[in-house]
Amino acid sequence: MIPTVRPRRLRTTPAMRRLTAEHRLHPAELILPAFVREGLGEPREISAMPGVLQHTLDSLRRAAVEAAESGIGGIMLFGVPAVRDARGSAADDPRGILNVATRAVAAEVGDALVVQTDLCLDEFTDHGHCGVLDAHGEVDNDTTLDRYRAMALAQAEAGSALLGLSGMMDGQVAAVRDALDAAGHQGTAILGYSAKYASAFYGPFREAVDSQLSGDRRTYQQDPANRREGLREAELDIAEGADVVMVKPAMSYLDVLADVASASPVPVWAYQVSGEAAMIEAAAANGWIDRRRTIEESVIGIKRAGADAILSYFAVELAGWLR
Ligand code: PBG
Repeated sequence: MIPTVRPRRLRTTPAMRRLTAEHRLHPAELILPAFVREGLGEPREISAMPGVLQHTLDSLRRAAVEAAESGIGGIMLFGVPAVRDARGSAADDPRGILNVATRAVAAEVGDALVVQTDLCLDEFTDHGHCGVLDAHGEVDNDTTLDRYRAMALAQAEAGSALLGLSGMMDGQVAAVRDALDAAGHQGTAILGYSAKYASAFYGPFREAVDSQLSGDRRTYQQDPANRREGLREAELDIAEGADVVMVKPAMSYLDVLADVASASPVPVWAYQVSGEAAMIEAAAANGWIDRRRTIEESVIGIKRAGADAILSYFAVELAGWLR
């Protein structure tokens, strides 16, 4: 039997493969997550995330300029405060590290990058949860919404163009939209971390932000066993006014990403999280996989599944390869 259909024809040369590629990455659709720590003299390496730093204000400014020059689309800022308390007071303090850093980065890069901020309490609370606790030590949804409203105003005033709501409280998008609009911040966009799973892949991130958490986030983040619920969460966020929705982590949740991408009228992003990057780095450091090819394959896989933009610790390096 001689085959009459030969898909290999389109794979014969690099030029043919390039011409027939269904998807391609562009630097503009990459977003770099970055950490800034209060009271740090020198930038500090995060041991579980080779090449990723806890920045000082100065080194963050330089990293933001480098990111802008690389042509990527945005930067997502996370703050590590020197002092934490039960309600995460530093989160909505205009002198809090994240708000100070947002102002500094926005002034430095102007419109060359979309400056974005993580809107969640976990970096700021002494118990490490994403919300405030009730008398029984449970995360109190509706009290937390008031904290998110205050945080949103502080971040918008600091110059964040897009607030990344990663706390997984019910009604958070509607609450923050309402607070922003009432204060004249109609132009500030909301990214709902809509389908955010209670994931072990956040492990290295906990070191990056010196997380105080003991226990887990399973009463608010989603069960990894649930697919349908991912789409439901995204639909709720869109109905509440999310400008962009996200699926997180990325690589173990490509089915959820594909579901959301096929149904969403708004852009869909995905977050290749710390543990996903760490696995690649560790295997590559052992010589078990080709680092560059694995990074490229992992990110194009996320794109192929339906992501319009991708948060990745490799964003700037990848943009360099793409040029
Ligand atoms: C919450 C938040 C987390 C991450 C992003 N935003 C941690 C968590 O939910 O436990 C994880 C990102 C990563 O692992 O790279 N502020």
